[in-house]
Amino acid sequence: MYWSSALLAIAGLARGVNSATLRFSCAQLVVDRLDPLVNPGMAPSPHLHQIVGGNAFNVTMDYEQNDPASTATCTSCMPTEDFSNYWTAVLFFKARNGTYKRVNTMGNGLGYTASNGGQTVYYLSNGKVTAFRPGFRMIVGNPTFNSETQARQNPGLQYTCLDSPMTRTGYRYDFPTTPCRAGIMVTVRFPTCWDGKNVDSPDHQSHVAYRRGNACPSTHPVAIPEVFYETYWDTRPFNDQSQWPSDGSQPFVWSFGDARGYGNHGDYVFGWKGDALQRAMDANCQSDLFNDQVNCPTLKLQSIADTNKCTLQRRVREDIDAWLTELPGGSM
Ligand SMILES: *[C@@H]1O[C@H](CO)[C@@H](O)[C@H](O)[C@H]1NC(C)=O
Ligand SMILES: *[C@@H]1O[C@H](CO)[C@@H](O)[C@H](O)[C@H]1NC(C)=O
Repeated sequence: MYWSSALLAIAGLARGVNSATLRFSCAQLVVDRLDPLVNPGMAPSPHLHQIVGGNAFNVTMDYEQNDPASTATCTSCMPTEDFSNYWTAVLFFKARNGTYKRVNTMGNGLGYTASNGGQTVYYLSNGKVTAFRPGFRMIVGNPTFNSETQARQNPGLQYTCLDSPMTRTGYRYDFPTTPCRAGIMVTVRFPTCWDGKNVDSPDHQSHVAYRRGNACPSTHPVAIPEVFYETYWDTRPFNDQSQWPSDGSQPFVWSFGDARGYGNHGDYVFGWKGDALQRAMDANCQSDLFNDQVNCPTLKLQSIADTNKCTLQRRVREDIDAWLTELPGGSM
């Protein structure tokens, strides 16, 4: 009972008849210094990302040249028709001597521990929603944010200090300040209203908006599925506080140099085949939140073992796994 109320709080839904809670696992596709939304064509891009989804992920993702739904040949997500890409920055541990060590993602403690890292992805609805149009992409969050007031503009970008793999309490907008026995969970939740016209915008944000109360604003009248993902960061190897900064601060830093955590952000490029996502939302699929049951008969699914097999070679050749004297790309 405790879990289910906590998990319903995650879903953030008063669950009505026309609601969907679609939840599935996506294994790590690649960790690379590419950012086809913010820095298309740049290899390397300024900072490192961890990416899941279809293997059409590339230096550029212009829909006209690279529609993931037709160019991808595998996906690291369980629904085999989902060639979307989902990505975030990468976490590093900063040692007392000033060097950095990359933190790995790991499988979600609720049902998906067999996943080779990556993310758990949700598509949620409360009422009828219109699935994304081909070419749709968006970003939520802002790497330049450095205060809690700014971070709270995006209420679904949060950190959870995992005492156990199932902890679902104590959400916060910055990095936990004490060691987390089972790792750190980072959640990224996107806005749910769309302007109905543009599949992208110059800042990759202004074509979508949050609800006001229970309704979409008139500027963004179309209700879209809520894309939401959870990343489990395996910070357990770094829990020895004698290695933490001597000034008492916490040791984790995002790949773009943010040691507070307020700059948390996430990226999404839609890549479902045909109307597979619309059908799943219309079917009001209700995944089992406690185990690996996606529970959505309209979707074709693959096993976690098969999601682990879909990976990409890194494009940017650089050492990201040594104790590094600076973050890849040079952010301090
Ligand atoms: C990425 O794009 C380049 C051309 O820009 C292409 O040669 C390469 O095969 C693509 N990689 C993947 C994994 O699709
Ligand atoms: C810095 O500290 C880490 C963690 O204690 C250690 O593994 C690494 O070898 C150290 N590097 C240098 C250059 O001292």
